[in-house]
Formats: sequence, C-alpha cells, structure tokens
Amino acid sequence: MKCSGILVFPILLYHVQSFYLPGLAPVNYCRSGEDTNTCKSQVDLYVNRLNTEESVIPYEYNHFDFCLPSEELKSPVENLGQVVFGERIRPSPYKIRFMENQTCTLLCKKTYSSNDPQDNLKLSILRKGIGLNYQHHWIVDNMPVTTCYDTEENEQFCTTGFPMGCYSKNGRQTCAKPVSKMDASYIHNHVDLTITYHSGAKEEWGSQFQQNGGRIISVKVIPRSIDYKGQPCMQTGDYLSLPTKNLEKGQTFEIIYTYSVTFIENNKVKWSSRWDYILESMQHTNIQWFSILNSAVIVLFLSGMVAMILLRTLHKDIARYNQIDNGEDAQVYT
Ligand SMILES: *[C@@H]1O[C@H](CO)[C@@H](O)[C@H](O)[C@H]1NC(C)=O
Repeated sequence: MKCSGILVFPILLYHVQSFYLPGLAPVNYCRSGEDTNTCKSQVDLYVNRLNTEESVIPYEYNHFDFCLPSEELKSPVENLGQVVFGERIRPSPYKIRFMENQTCTLLCKKTYSSNDPQDNLKLSILRKGIGLNYQHHWIVDNMPVTTCYDTEENEQFCTTGFPMGCYSKNGRQTCAKPVSKMDASYIHNHVDLTITYHSGAKEEWGSQFQQNGGRIISVKVIPRSIDYKGQPCMQTGDYLSLPTKNLEKGQTFEIIYTYSVTFIENNKVKWSSRWDYILESMQHTNIQWFSILNSAVIVLFLSGMVAMILLRTLHKDIARYNQIDNGEDAQVYT
C-alpha cells in the first residue's frame, strides 16, 4: 500500500500542472487592439438564474423578456457545485472592452403591443418578478457582480445580486427615491457598471502590457429605472413604470435597456485578495453551528446504537463458538 501511495503522488503532481479550477488562475486583460495570447480585451458578462427570498422557485434569465445576445453564444461549462445549486449561467448581450468607458450604450428595445397576445403575458411576468423582488445574479471574470450600500454606521455593505425592479404596493416601497404612484412596478432598465482593476504596469506579471493592461478586482453595479420617453439615454429623472393592467386595444409600451461602464484603476488591492470585500460584508451568514451540532449528535447516537446491537449479537455468537470448541476438545481428549 505504502509503495503505491508513493507512486501515485508524483503522478498527481504532474496532473496538477496541467489542470486548474476555473477562477483560481488570474486572467490578464488589456486594451482592445493590444490582444495577445496572454491577455484579452473583451470582458465577458454572464447572467445567472434569478431568485428571491419570497419564493422558492428560481427562474432562468430567459424566463423574463430581457435582451438576448445577438448570436448564439455558448453557455459556459458549469461545474458540479454550480449544477447542484441550480445555477444556470448564460451569456449576455452586454459588450464590455477593457479600459473603455461607456457613458450610455443602447442594449435593446422591447416593444409590446396589444395586438400580440404574448406581449401582455410577457409584461405580466415582468410585473410578477418585480413584485416578488427577484434578484439578478451576474458574473464577470468568475466573480459575482455586487451592489453596495452605505449603512448607517458609515460602512459599505455589498451583496451579490440586485433586484430586477422596484415597486410601491400597499404602502410598501422598495425604490431608492420616493415615488408618487401608489400601486406601480418600476423596471431597472439601466445599469451603471463600475469595474475596478489592478494595473499591471508596476508588477512583474504586467510589465509587458505597460499602462494598457490589468486584472479585474471588483465589478459593482447600480441598477436604475429611467423613463427615456422614447429617446435612449435622455436623462428625464423619472422612473419607468410598467403598465399596471393588460394593454388596451391599440396601446403600445416600450422598454429601452441601456448600460454604462466605468473603469477605475486601484493598485491597492491585489488580485489574490479581491474576494475580501465580499466576504467582509457577509457577516450575517455566520456558520450554522446549531445544525452542525445537531447532525453530529444524531450521527453519534445512531452509530452507538448500531455498535451496541453488533456487540450483543456477536457476544452470543462468540460464546456459542467457544462452547462448541470446548465440546470438540472434550471429544478429542477422551
Ligand atoms: C473612465 O472614467 C473614470 C471616471 O470618470 C476615469 O477615472 C478613467 O480615467 C476613465 N478611463 C478611461 C480609460 O478613459
């Protein structure tokens, strides 16, 4: 046994070099036009299934009528953990290039009219999702996209995921600024993405890129609801409310989806500690000591029972064998 263990170890080591878990190796990015085989300029944004605390059913991104990627981009391969947790990671139509700020880019327009019976259904699915507070979960560079709030104690609190909209209903309001309508759902049709990166200029790994490369440290999002009144990227200051009832004959409704991207250099945070800010604000998810203790007690109790039953049965058997042995011995010696 020992011998085979010694043999297996170097083989394992050999395999480790050619195999790594996704997310454990840093990805270098560089400005578009500077692409080499050690860095890429396209920053891929993936969308995951939406979930909520108010319902047990998660929905895939495509269940809702959001913008779809133009060409058939392939979904990334999911690992076992992601499959078990019910994650459905899909490509998205957001086009982000490294170190390229975008002030307001049109993603797509969705038009709904009363002529198409499907449209009222799509709108009601959106309304329902907002009413149940369904949350987007986006992924960039193997990291969750986070939303951060300032708490009353002047600390930043970041969560992975952001709501697909906000609503006012029965005196309850989830929108950032007070809204006047009493019973309305507002869809988040614009996102402000802030991507923080560590410049490679002064690091060993990045000296070849000079000022044009880096590694992504964090991606934060601020979702907004903006009523563009038909003109994309016009600032109106109004929220875009979905029609509360089915569209009437001849009525149409349009949702314009847009996004903006800002790249910010931050050389204080290393790539290897880029998860820290998420973990720091997850203090409420403490370890479930009670459940662990509970399971441990049950396991101990059951194994104790089995051991006792085994001991009792075997005890009788051993006694019987001993008796037979004694009998045989007695026969031989007489
Ligand atoms: C992008 O915008 C941020 C904030 O306005 C600015 O600090 C940064 O230099 C800009 N980056 C580029 C590449 O223009």
